[in-house]
Amino acid sequence: MKISIISGSSRAKSASLNVSTHINQLMSNIDSTVDSTIFSLAANKLPMWDETTDLASLSAFQDELAQADAFVFVIPEWHGMVPPAVKNLFFLFSGVFRHKPAFLVCVSSGTGGRYPIPEMRSSTYKNSFINYIPVSAVIDRVNTVIDENGNYIAEKAFVQNRLDEGLRILIEYSKAFQAIRASDIVQEKRFPNGV
Ligand SMILES: Cc1cc2nc3c(=O)[nH]c(=O)nc-3n(C[C@H](O)[C@H](O)[C@H](O)COP(=O)(O)O)c2cc1C
Repeated sequence: MKISIISGSSRAKSASLNVSTHINQLMSNIDSTVDSTIFSLAANKLPMWDETTDLASLSAFQDELAQADAFVFVIPEWHGMVPPAVKNLFFLFSGVFRHKPAFLVCVSSGTGGRYPIPEMRSSTYKNSFINYIPVSAVIDRVNTVIDENGNYIAEKAFVQNRLDEGLRILIEYSKAFQAIRASDIVQEKRFPNGV
């Protein structure tokens, strides 16, 4: 099973990447058979989609994401929203998320960062057919909780317990969704852009 951890910040030194590093380590402790990798939107500089975007030139990124059976989105709250680079992924590569489960983790340097979770749940699923698991996690004061090596500075019990819950449920959903993706109705692709 492959799980892609999408670090949703386009900043080079970001708390989202620190949290992604921690989640990657935690995943291997939970289940060493899971092949988890980080897809950083800072390291992978993707163009903002427009009508002239050469999608063929981005096929290596698309192929990497398409191999994933499930996703973890680590999303910083920017201006009370999901950063544009995260939404842009759905413009460029909508098909890679099709009938796959995803775990949402929202990070904030303060205590207000929650809005990306309902925004992702309400506006990114229709055409992509992504399925967000019911568990999500919020990490407040993130820069005082997890350092650049993915290690805890504080609040380990509180945060790790919630990430552990989400990752374990994501793994079980991921197993179940393999059968869903193989089903006749999903293979049929009757409504390619959602219903
Ligand atoms: C452009 C921008 C807008 C931000 N807006 C918010 C915000 O609305 N709410 C919030 O809690 N934090 C906000 N922050 C702070 C982030 O929570 C903080 O940068 C945190 O470290 C997560 O972002 P990062 O992964 O890029 O480091 C903002 C940061 C940036 C760069």
